[in-house]
Amino acid sequence: MTPPEGPDKSAARIRSMFGSIAPRYDLLNRLLSGGNDVVWRRRAARLLDPRPGERILDLCSGTGDLALAVSRRTRGEARVTAADFTLEMLALGRRKFAARGARIPEAGADGLRLPFPDGSFQAVTAAFGVRNFEDLDRGLREVCRVLSPGGRFLVLEFTPRPTGPLAPALSFYLDRVLPRIGRAVSRDGSAYSYLPDSMSRWPDPAALAARLRGAGFADVAWRPLTFGLAALHLATKGASG
Ligand SMILES: C[S@@+](CC[C@H](N)C(=O)[O-])C[C@H]1O[C@@H](n2cnc3c(N)ncnc32)[C@H](O)[C@@H]1O
Repeated sequence: MTPPEGPDKSAARIRSMFGSIAPRYDLLNRLLSGGNDVVWRRRAARLLDPRPGERILDLCSGTGDLALAVSRRTRGEARVTAADFTLEMLALGRRKFAARGARIPEAGADGLRLPFPDGSFQAVTAAFGVRNFEDLDRGLREVCRVLSPGGRFLVLEFTPRPTGPLAPALSFYLDRVLPRIGRAVSRDGSAYSYLPDSMSRWPDPAALAARLRGAGFADVAWRPLTFGLAALHLATKGASG
């Protein structure tokens, strides 16, 4: 049962959940999103518009798909680092980077206490990651800290619930169908119930934009993706950040 205050987002629980689903994580992403996750990451990389030579941190990088998409946009000329605190996910990313000939170093790092000095990166990206933070505001402030002045933060996340005429069908899929497929394929009893549960308790895009401003970001803009199922936020480190 889910406690009233929401799913357990302690570092130990999140790490063990992603450690357990890591081997089937990519397969389930493609299957459960109908391939949309690939398109969303590509759009995220295009919106970020990375430049050759830029230092970019892909936080909550998992198996590294967004790090790769960002690196590819600069033909490998941006200096992308992939960071995550689940070593099983990072290990799969490492193999993927090697197989694709991408030079993307990895860092085992907790997003709530990043092992980087202030102003280390010109951009930070996070896909489907910050929703798992035990303390979202602390994590957002930490991202702001490691960005250089004017640095960009790109967040790709689900929204609490899809909107529009397809919303009932999509909600049925998220609440009833997705957890069953996820459980059968990942063989993890709860990880894919955690997904719709954590989504439904997540701030909507306007509220997330407000949290980003509260953490020191300015010029926060967002756009919905695929019937409002997900959203892309792009924010710039403000003068007070
Ligand atoms: C849903 S996966 C997303 C992976 C990848 N970004 C993608 O687009 O497929 C979430 C990742 O966030 C990582 N994560 C969650 N909380 C974290 C934290 N506090 N610090 C570092 N990584 C975290 C998990 O280990 C997991 O690999």
